[in-house]
Amino acid sequence: MATESVLWTVSIFLGLLFAANGDKVAQKIYQQLSGVNPCVLLTNATHQIGCTSSMSGHVGVLHYIKSEADVDWIIQNGSHAPYVPLFRSDLFTLEIVDRLIQKEKINGALVIAVPSGKYRYTPKADSPDYECPKDNFGIYSGDKKYENCKEVKWNPKGTGMSFKYFDIPMFALNDEAEVDDLLQCYKTHNSQEHPDYPLCAVQLKDFMYAAKDTPTCVRKSNIPNPIGANFCMPLGDKNVWGTLYPIKKKKKVVMLATKLDSNSFFHDLVPGVDNDGSGIVVALAVAKALGALKRNGSLPETKNHIMFTFFQGEAWDYIGSSRMVYDMDKDEFPSDPWKVDGKDLTLKTGDIKYFLELNQVGLSRNKLWAHSDPVSAKDSETEGKVNNIVKALENAGKKYNLDIQEPADKPLPPSSFQMFLKKNRSIPGIVLTDHKEEYSNKFYNSHFDDLYQVGGNVSMDNDTVYVITEFTKKLSNISSTVATALYTLANDGTAPDFDIKADEALVGHLIFCLFNRSDCPLYRQASDSNKTWTSFKKTPVSLKPFPRYVSVNGSSNALTRTVKYLLLYFTGYHFPPGKYEECKESDGVEKIKVLGQKLQGLCVTGSVFESPAVSPAFVEENYDSTEYSTWAESTWNDDLTVQLFLVASPKLEGVTLGAGLTITFLSFVLVYFINKKADVIFTSTDPLSSELDN
Ligand SMILES: *[C@@H]1O[C@H](CO)[C@@H](O)[C@H](O)[C@H]1NC(C)=O
Ligand SMILES: *[C@@H]1O[C@H](CO)[C@@H](O)[C@H](O)[C@H]1NC(C)=O
Ligand SMILES: *[C@@H]1O[C@H](CO)[C@@H](O)[C@H](O)[C@H]1NC(C)=O
Ligand SMILES: *[C@@H]1O[C@H](CO)[C@@H](O)[C@H](O)[C@H]1NC(C)=O
Ligand SMILES: *[C@@H]1O[C@H](CO)[C@@H](O)[C@H](O)[C@H]1NC(C)=O
Ligand SMILES: *[C@@H]1O[C@H](CO)[C@@H](O)[C@H](O)[C@H]1NC(C)=O
Ligand SMILES: *[C@@H]1O[C@H](CO)[C@@H](O)[C@H](O)[C@H]1NC(C)=O
Ligand SMILES: *[C@@H]1O[C@H](CO)[C@@H](O)[C@H](O)[C@H]1NC(C)=O
Ligand SMILES: *[C@@H]1O[C@H](CO)[C@@H](O)[C@H](O)[C@H]1NC(C)=O
Ligand SMILES: *[C@@H]1O[C@H](CO)[C@@H](O)[C@H](O)[C@H]1NC(C)=O
Repeated sequence: MATESVLWTVSIFLGLLFAANGDKVAQKIYQQLSGVNPCVLLTNATHQIGCTSSMSGHVGVLHYIKSEADVDWIIQNGSHAPYVPLFRSDLFTLEIVDRLIQKEKINGALVIAVPSGKYRYTPKADSPDYECPKDNFGIYSGDKKYENCKEVKWNPKGTGMSFKYFDIPMFALNDEAEVDDLLQCYKTHNSQEHPDYPLCAVQLKDFMYAAKDTPTCVRKSNIPNPIGANFCMPLGDKNVWGTLYPIKKKKKVVMLATKLDSNSFFHDLVPGVDNDGSGIVVALAVAKALGALKRNGSLPETKNHIMFTFFQGEAWDYIGSSRMVYDMDKDEFPSDPWKVDGKDLTLKTGDIKYFLELNQVGLSRNKLWAHSDPVSAKDSETEGKVNNIVKALENAGKKYNLDIQEPADKPLPPSSFQMFLKKNRSIPGIVLTDHKEEYSNKFYNSHFDDLYQVGGNVSMDNDTVYVITEFTKKLSNISSTVATALYTLANDGTAPDFDIKADEALVGHLIFCLFNRSDCPLYRQASDSNKTWTSFKKTPVSLKPFPRYVSVNGSSNALTRTVKYLLLYFTGYHFPPGKYEECKESDGVEKIKVLGQKLQGLCVTGSVFESPAVSPAFVEENYDSTEYSTWAESTWNDDLTVQLFLVASPKLEGVTLGAGLTITFLSFVLVYFINKKADVIFTSTDPLSSELDN
C-alpha cells in the first residue's frame, strides 16, 4: 500500500515539524528579564575594570545566596557547576565573589537590587570604591605627609570592588516580579540538598568590545572598519555653571560648587543621595533663594559675582573640574567668550576670590565641617581668606542651628576644589562635609546610598509632592546658612540685614524629584513645553530618578539638562505670556522657555551655561596621561540579555539530540521516498483527496 505509507510518513513528518517549531518552544523554555543593570567594562590609561561575558554569553545553574552557608554549599556540595549565584542584596561582597571565582564555581552573578519592598536587605556598610578615593589625581599625590590617606582614611569601608576586573558577567535585578520568577524557578528545581535535573539555569550575555586599556581601545577604534564602530567612548558630558548677574566687567567670583555625578558597581544604578545629591539639593535651594531676592529687587548686584557650578564626571578622576581649570588656563572659559567693552572676557582661576564646595552634607546632626588645605594655609594671606569663609559660614549657621567646625590640620577630602588648587595653591576655599574624618556615609559610591538610608517619607498631595524628614529640615537649614554666607562673601564681608531663608517645601520636593521620581511637578515646570513633557512621561525613566552616572560623552544626560533649566528658572528673570517681547538675549544672557509654575508658559532670561566636561587627556589625545582622567566606557551590542531557562539532564539532552537526528533521518527517507514515488503522488487525479474522501 504505497500511498498509505506516503500518507503515514507525511503526517509523522508534519507532526514532528510542528513539535520542533523553534519559536514556540523557546517561548516556553526561556524567560527574558528586562529589569537588569549590567556591570560594564571601562578602561583607563593602564587598566580595564568591570565585567564582561564572552561573545556567546555565559550559562550557569541558578543558586540563591541567602546566607554564607549557601556559599559553602556551592563550594563543597554543588555538583552542577558552573553556577550563577543570585545574591540577596546585602550578601554581594567582594570577599564572597572572590572566593567563588577562585574555586572556579561560578560563571556569572545576579544581585537583587529592588530599591524597596520585601527584597530590600541593607548591609551595615557597602562601599565598592577605594579606601582613599581618587588619590592619584588629587593634590596630595606625592606629598610625603598626606599621600595615600596617611592622615585620614576617608572611606575605610571601601573594598575597591568597582575598580577590579572580572571576566564574568554580573547584573543587578531591579524588578520585583522578575525576582519572584527567578526564586520560584529556583525553589521548584534547584533548592533541594541534592537537586536533580531539570535544573533552573540562566544565561548572561553582555560582551564588551573594549579590552586592556584606553590607548589600545582608541587605537583599535581608529583603524577604519566597515561599520565605523567604536570599541570604547570617553566618559564625560557637560558642566553646568551660572552667575546670578551676567558677567559684565572683570569682577572676582565667589564660587559655590558641587558635583552632579556619582557612581556604583552597576551601570546606571546610581542614586548617590548623600554623595553628593545632598550638595545638589542645597546648591539649587540656595540658587532659588537668591534668585527670588534678585527678582524682587532686594539683592542688587553684589561686589563679587556669585557663581554656581555643577561638575560632571567627578567620580572618574575629576573629569569636569579638571577640564574647567584646563579651559580657564587656556583662556577658553567660557568657550564662546562674549564681548565686554569690545574685549573678550574669560574667567581664570586667579579670578576666584572664594571657593565653597558642597560635598556630602546630609548625614550629620546640626553640624558640618569646613575642610581646607593645610598646605595652602602656610601662606598667611591665603589662611586669612580661608578664615573669612569659615567665619561667614559660622555666623550664618548660628541662625539656623548649624554648627560649623574646622578639623585641625587635616588634608582636604577628595573634592573638585583640589583641581583648582593644583593650578594655584593660593585660591582660598573650603569643602563643606558631614564628616570630620572618615565618611559618615557608609555607602560611598554604592547603590545603597539612596533615599531609604535617609528615611524618605514621600507624601503626595497633588501638586505639592515632597519628602518630609529630618533630612529635609537639615538640608533646608544648610541651604539658608550657605545662601547667607555667599551673600556675605560676595559683598566682601557685609552680612545681609535681612534673613535669607531657603524654602523647605522646595527642598523636600527636590529630594523627591532627584531621588524618587523624575516625573515630578517641578521638573514639569522647568520643561520647555507640554509636548516635551507629555512625551517624557511616556518613557519608563520618568518613573525613576535620573541615574547619576556620567555616562559617555555625547549621550545626552537628562540630569545635566534638567539642572541647567532649573538653575536658569531659579536665578533668571521671568516674563509671562504678554510680556514675551521684553524677554531678550544679550551679552552673557541666555533666553529659554519653560512651562513655569502656572504651566502657562514662561520666558526666562539668565546667565546659565554649559561647559565641556570631557577630560583634557582626550582633547590632547594623550590616552596614557597620568595627569588627567583617561576613563572610557566599552561599547556592547544591543542584544544584552539575561534569560532564565530549564536545563534538562544530560540524559534527556541525549534523547533530544536523538529525536533531532531521527527527524533529520526521516526527512531524508521522506525526500527519497517522494522522489521515488513521485508518479504516484503527483498524478492528475489527486490521490490524497480521494483517499480522504473514502
Ligand atoms: C555537604 O553535604 C554533606 C553530606 O550531605 C553535609 O554533611 C554538609 O553539611 C554539606 N555542606 C554544606 C555546606 O551544605
Ligand atoms: C587605572 O585604574 C586602575 C584601577 O583602578 C588603577 O590601579 C590605575 O592606577 C589606574 N591608572 C591610572 C594611570 O590612573
Ligand atoms: C523678596 O522676596 C523674599 C523672598 O521671597 C521676601 O522674603 C522679601 O520680603 C521680598 N522683599 C520684597 C521687598 O518684596
Ligand atoms: C592665584 O590665586 C590668587 C588668589 O585668588 C590670585 O591672587 C593669584 O593671582 C593667582 N595666581 C595666578 C598665577 O593666577
Ligand atoms: C533649623 O533651624 C531652625 C531655626 O531656624 C531650628 O529651629 C531647627 O531646629 C533647625 N532644624 C534642624 C533639623 O536642625
Ligand atoms: C510620613 O509623614 C506623614 C505626614 O507627616 C506622617 O503622618 C507619617 O506618619 C509619616 N510616616 C513615616 C513612616 O514616617
Ligand atoms: C487633589 O486633587 C483632587 C482631584 O483633582 C481634589 O479633589 C483634592 O481636593 C485635591 N487635594 C488637595 C489637598 O488639594
Ligand atoms: C519612591 O517612593 C515610593 C513611595 O514611598 C516608593 O514606593 C518607591 O520605592 C520610591 N522609589 C525610589 C526609587 O526611592
Ligand atoms: C564630546 O561630545 C561633543 C558633542 O556633544 C563633541 O563635540 C566632542 O568632540 C566630544 N569630545 C570627544 C573628546 O569625544
Ligand atoms: C499645558 O497644559 C496645561 C494643562 O495640562 C494647560 O493648563 C497649560 O495652558 C498648557 N500650557 C501651555 C503653554 O500650553
